[in-house]
Amino acid sequence: MTAPTAAVRDRALGLAPQELPAYLYDLAALDAHAAAVRAALPPQVELYYAAKANPEPEILAALAPHVEGYEVSSGGELTHVAKAVPEHPLAFGGPGKTPDEITAALELGVARFHVESAHELRMLAAIAARVAPHTRVGVLLRFNLGLDGASLDALEGSSLTMGGRPTPFGLDPAEADTVVAAFTDGSLPQLHLLGVHAHLASGLDAPRQLAVAETIVTWSQALARRHGIRLAEVNVGGGMSVDYTDPGALFDWARYGEGLALLCAAHPGLTLRIEPGRALSAYCGWYATEVLDVKQSHGEEFAVVRGGTHHLRTPAAKGHDQPCTVLPARDPWPHPWPRSEARQGRVTFAGQLCTPKDVLSRRVPAAGLRAGDRVVFAMAGAYAWNISHHDFLMHPRPGFHFL
Ligand SMILES: Cc1ncc(COP(=O)(O)O)c(C=O)c1O
Repeated sequence: MTAPTAAVRDRALGLAPQELPAYLYDLAALDAHAAAVRAALPPQVELYYAAKANPEPEILAALAPHVEGYEVSSGGELTHVAKAVPEHPLAFGGPGKTPDEITAALELGVARFHVESAHELRMLAAIAARVAPHTRVGVLLRFNLGLDGASLDALEGSSLTMGGRPTPFGLDPAEADTVVAAFTDGSLPQLHLLGVHAHLASGLDAPRQLAVAETIVTWSQALARRHGIRLAEVNVGGGMSVDYTDPGALFDWARYGEGLALLCAAHPGLTLRIEPGRALSAYCGWYATEVLDVKQSHGEEFAVVRGGTHHLRTPAAKGHDQPCTVLPARDPWPHPWPRSEARQGRVTFAGQLCTPKDVLSRRVPAAGLRAGDRVVFAMAGAYAWNISHHDFLMHPRPGFHFL
């Protein structure tokens, strides 16, 4: 999963130094991966892609044959995704939706709103009455569920926890009965309560995801029973694990799919939905660059590469070493000055920023590394370019290649 595909390797070696760094996306690899994910899931499970992981239009389009829709979390994502993959259902989530964003979403005919609070629900109802008076707007209430037992243990293993403890995300479960009652007492005629949404954590493996999904579904169905209503949809979120420290440890989609099939069988007629981002797109992207300099510092060896964490913030944000592969340069050294090269077996790859935090990967086995060699950082297809602070130090932007 970290070695570049043949297409990525050829492009990384074929680009001129001035054309680097570059994001190289292997769309054929993405297509195959997404098809395998879809095939592992039972038919009652809808697969939405969380666009925040990587909203490049080519990525969205490559995923289109394999997903039932897209989850968007801002007005910006909403208009962007609606334009990139028109005619695909959108679910509009995210905290702090503004009146303008809600209006835009209603005008676009968004199928589902993931409502984050009682305040947002009232705002949506009022705006819907004005903007879409003849439609009943689909709502999933997002809850920050309290967890216990296996599902609480599951959150212990997460890399980013958004629920099960105090956070700004979703409604508190203590509000559930009051909020649902507003749908049954006729005070929200513009809105149609479709179900429940919960995204409680990122970075969970398949057994942990299943424990959390079961808790969400069981809780939702109990809520429905208490109010004598049908909640036809439950969205159990994304957060399927991607392990940057053990890139071969892929999320077990087969096991997850089998577990979800059992959950569906226990709740006939229920539509289950998942909305992964990272685990769909992370593996299809590489950040390719060139070694500018190799130097010693207090006994350690550093390679400074074109670009850095202002393009690929993922290792700085998550505190890992980005998996990478060194590709020795094809061309002879073209310069009159000598070529710097590694004297030790391990090299730390740093970027061009004036901060010690600009480190992409530490102590990588790279004996014989030389200036001009190419380095290709893997697992750069999610939360990479789009979460980076591009303008710091005003270096040029990377190229983008969709292979
Ligand atoms: C509501 C929601 N859904 C889905 C996702 C996607 O998570 P991941 O990319 O870890 O699968 C996120 C990520 O933060 C999220 O906040």
